[in-house]
Amino acid sequence: MNAGIIGLGRHTPEKIVTNFDLEKLMDTSDEWIRTRTGIEERRYASDDVDSSDMAFEAAKEAINDAGIDASQIGLILVATVTPDTPFPSVSTMIQAKLGATNAAAMDVSAACAGFMYGVITAKQFVESDTYPYVLVVGVEKLSKITNFEDRNTAVLFGDGAGAVVIGKVSEGRGILSFELGADGTGGKHLYQNGPYLEMNGREVFKFAVRQMGESAEHVITKAGLSKEDVNFLVPHQANIRIMESSRQRLGLPEEKMSKTINQFGNTSSASIPISLKEEVLNGKIKDDDVIVLVGFGGGLTWGAICMKWGK
Ligand code: UT7
Repeated sequence: MNAGIIGLGRHTPEKIVTNFDLEKLMDTSDEWIRTRTGIEERRYASDDVDSSDMAFEAAKEAINDAGIDASQIGLILVATVTPDTPFPSVSTMIQAKLGATNAAAMDVSAACAGFMYGVITAKQFVESDTYPYVLVVGVEKLSKITNFEDRNTAVLFGDGAGAVVIGKVSEGRGILSFELGADGTGGKHLYQNGPYLEMNGREVFKFAVRQMGESAEHVITKAGLSKEDVNFLVPHQANIRIMESSRQRLGLPEEKMSKTINQFGNTSSASIPISLKEEVLNGKIKDDDVIVLVGFGGGLTWGAICMKWGK
């Protein structure tokens, strides 16, 4: 039996920051941001809310959705580049808050691809019968490493959390194939310099267009399927133009790709689980659909999964 997603949760902060709000802070425009990135607004967590608070809310929802008790979780993996503190980890912080007393806990650092790394790691522990359930959270408070004097990056990012419980699912469902990868020579294109995130947008863009398309195709082939079998695509929400290029490469119509970037901006490791929850809630992802998840990020790192939805 394959491992699959048996519970989903998300938390997005209440405070909405629109492109028009950002026009007042820097030399930018709603027109530029919308047409170049697809973003209309993003959410920022308040000063007294950190990554562990958002991660806890999303995790609680995922555990309830899975219908399990926190004490049944064997491992907690939190993908983040914006932990509350370097240590203790966010995963240990939420382990305490959730009362997940039987869970080991560690954070995963793979930037925007972190959630994909987390889910694939979880799959290994579940399918080897090491742990019955693994909680995987993607969370970022990117507003705390955003340089509001750099319009190249400041308009792109948002805060939020998404969580899944990975467990065994019925025969034929769950994770059918995956790919993880890294190219450390590209680390210079997206990194944290002192307090702030810095990025060479054009280089990351070129890498992302190539990698997202290739990885999506690879996992479909590895699953023994063809593009025509894919029902829905959930790409990392970094830039609508990057997402569109993956969608077109798979030959999918517009309505078969998740698009939450307009509401939440780029929430890094949280973007894929936030989008998954959205699409399951609005009925676009249904049981037995073949879905492809694909992400990329600083490192450079990437990951893709082909799965059949449902418990
Ligand atoms: O999660 C992974 C992290 N990152 C990404 O996925 C980002 C990947 N890259 C991108 O999404 C795009 O490269 C950006 C959205 C960051 C930039 O779009 P672009 O089409 O590659 O623009 P560009 O960097 O080539 O800049 C075009 C122009 C420049 O002006 P000049 O030099 O042509 O006069 C920029 O200064 O747009 C200007 N510009 C802006 N103008 C208004 C850059 N940022 C802004 C802004 N508002 N916020």
